[in-house]
Amino acid sequence: MKIYIAEHAGLCFGVKRAIDIAEKTIAEAGGVNTYSLGPLVHNPYVVEKLNKNGLKIIDNIDSIKKGKIIIRSHGIPYNIQKKAEDLNLEIIDCTCPYVKSVQNRVKEYHNKGYKIIIIGDRNHPEVIGINGWCNNEGIIINEIEEAINLPAYKKVYIVSQTTNTHEKFEKLSNIIVQKSEEVKIFNTICNATNLRQKACIELAKKVDAVIVIGGYNSSNTNKLVEISKKYCNNVYHIELPKDLPLHEILKFNTIGITAGASTPDWIIKEVVNTMENIDNNEMLEAIENTMTKI
Ligand code: F3S
Repeated sequence: MKIYIAEHAGLCFGVKRAIDIAEKTIAEAGGVNTYSLGPLVHNPYVVEKLNKNGLKIIDNIDSIKKGKIIIRSHGIPYNIQKKAEDLNLEIIDCTCPYVKSVQNRVKEYHNKGYKIIIIGDRNHPEVIGINGWCNNEGIIINEIEEAINLPAYKKVYIVSQTTNTHEKFEKLSNIIVQKSEEVKIFNTICNATNLRQKACIELAKKVDAVIVIGGYNSSNTNKLVEISKKYCNNVYHIELPKDLPLHEILKFNTIGITAGASTPDWIIKEVVNTMENIDNNEMLEAIENTMTKI
């Protein structure tokens, strides 16, 4: 079995930065009164590790009276940030600078009177956060039909969830362009996403099967799964080495591995090691069985 790893895979700049800052913050505070608003990243094992060191996850800012609150790379809505400030909590802002730039643009153009349209998943924390910087008055769409059904606005400002596919962003933006008088498009799909998606396409085209590693609730990981399926018939989404469907994988000659932006290198390495070792073990078993028959 030949294993290929995508040219760009795993931790992105924004998530790595958030994990580094969080680890430093926890260490400085001795793991006391340190909170993250929601899981820091969409990777259960990274979250568990931080949790063991003292980082507590909270869903609501009202549940704490003092301490440090870490804002994850997805960012948060303006009103929640304001609330944390009013409560005198120490804010450790790990919002990815690319997401921060979308929030700032959305705020600016909302104030200039543009209708903000966000192309993305309305339930994703990043999108909820971005909408919070235009007073929750943005329109969130994610499907062609939703773009078609939009009313005609005079002035429109379009942004995207940073992990969206270019294909979807372009399709939906083009529909909006045709029905609005003045449209400004700010393509906010981040380069890390772009590079991972392109590398994923190249990988999926040349292998028999693709393994995508990343949290099951990670948006960018699910996009890699979606893309891989377009170019390869055998795609497996796993979170950890233990999730590998080994018996199925063994029938393929070439396997590609890619990973979402919240997946640390050590998880990718362990997946590769597991596959290489199991491959050897299974080969040995097969040889032994043949010899028994002889
Ligand atoms: Fe930031 Fe892009 Fe990662 S927006 S969090 S660098 S996927």
